[in-house]
Amino acid sequence: MRKTCLIALLALAPLFAHGAEPYREYDLAETYEPHVSGDMRLSGSYRHWANPGNLDWRMAGNPDENWKLNWKFMDPPFNSAVHGGHFAMDRGELLFKELNLKGRFAKCLGAGKGGLKGLRARYPMYRADLKRIAGLEEVIESCAAREGRVLQNGSYDNSAVSLFVAGRSNGMPIRIDVGKGVMRDAFERGRTLFHTRAGKLNLACSSCHTHQIGLQLRGTVITTPYGDAAHYPVYRTKYFLQSLHLRFIECNLDTRVQPLMPGSRAYTDLEVFLTGLTNGYPVSVPSERD
Ligand code: HEC
Repeated sequence: MRKTCLIALLALAPLFAHGAEPYREYDLAETYEPHVSGDMRLSGSYRHWANPGNLDWRMAGNPDENWKLNWKFMDPPFNSAVHGGHFAMDRGELLFKELNLKGRFAKCLGAGKGGLKGLRARYPMYRADLKRIAGLEEVIESCAAREGRVLQNGSYDNSAVSLFVAGRSNGMPIRIDVGKGVMRDAFERGRTLFHTRAGKLNLACSSCHTHQIGLQLRGTVITTPYGDAAHYPVYRTKYFLQSLHLRFIECNLDTRVQPLMPGSRAYTDLEVFLTGLTNGYPVSVPSERD
C-alpha cells in the first residue's frame, strides 16, 4: 500500500513542480534579428540614424518625428556640447589610473595587447572567473574588489569607470555573439523577459518598446529597443549617470514593477538581449538624455 502511494506521489511530482511556478502573462512575442539592422522590420527608423554622423537636426526639433532618430542626436559626434558625461569620464579616468597602478585592473577587465580598445564592444560576455555572463559594470565591481576598492555596480564611480572604458571603444561596432551556447540562452531568456507582463499595470517591456514605438507617453515618445545598448552608461540631466541596469530600474518603477538590483541575473539577461539588438552599431559615449 505504502509503495503504491509513493509511486503515485512520484508520478504526480512533475505536476507539483509545475504548480510551484509563478503565474505569468506574456505580451505578444516577436522574433528579433540580433543586429541593429533588424529595426528595419520592427519600426523602420534605423535608416534615419544608421549613420550617426549624418542625422537630420530638423527631425530632432519635431516632436512627431524625433522618435525616428531614436534620440541619437543626443549621442556623439552629433551632440558636441560639453555636459556632465564628460566630467564623469574624467572622473572615470582618474579612478581607472588609480586602480590600474600595477596593470592588473585592465587585465582583469579583459584588456589584451591593444589595451582597452574594443573591450566595451565585447560586453556582456561569459566570465570564467565569475562562472557567469556579466556586463562591464559587474566586472568593474569585481575587479576593483581585487584591488581592495569598493565600486558598487550602479554607483556613480562604477559607471564613471565604465564610461571611461567605453570611451576607448568609441566608434567601434558592438559585437557580441548571441548565436550559440550560454550567450544564446541568455539572449532567449532576455527576449522572454522582455515580453513578460509584470507589476500593477501588467505591462511588459515590449508593451511599450515593441508595440507602442512612436507613441507619446507622458510627453516622451517611445523609441525602438534596437541600438540602445551602445550609448550606456548615459548622462541624464535628471540625476547624473545612469547605467543600463539603472535604466531598467527606472522603467520598472515607472510601470509599478518591483525593481531588481543592478547586476541581477534577470537584468543581465535583458542586457544581453538589448546588446544583441545593438550589434553593428558603434559605441557612442558620453551620450546625454533628459
Ligand atoms: C510604460 C511604457 C514602458 C515600459 C513598460 C518600459 N519602458 Fe523603457 N522607456 C519608456 C520610455 C517612455 C522611455 C524614454 C523614451 C525612449 O527613449 O524610448 C524608455 C526608455 C528606455 C531605455 C533607454 C532608451 C535610450 O535611448 O536611452 C531602455 C534601455 C529601456 N527603456 C528599457 C526598458 C526595459 C528593459 C523595460 C522592461 C523591463 C522597459 N523599458 C519597460 C517606456 C517604457
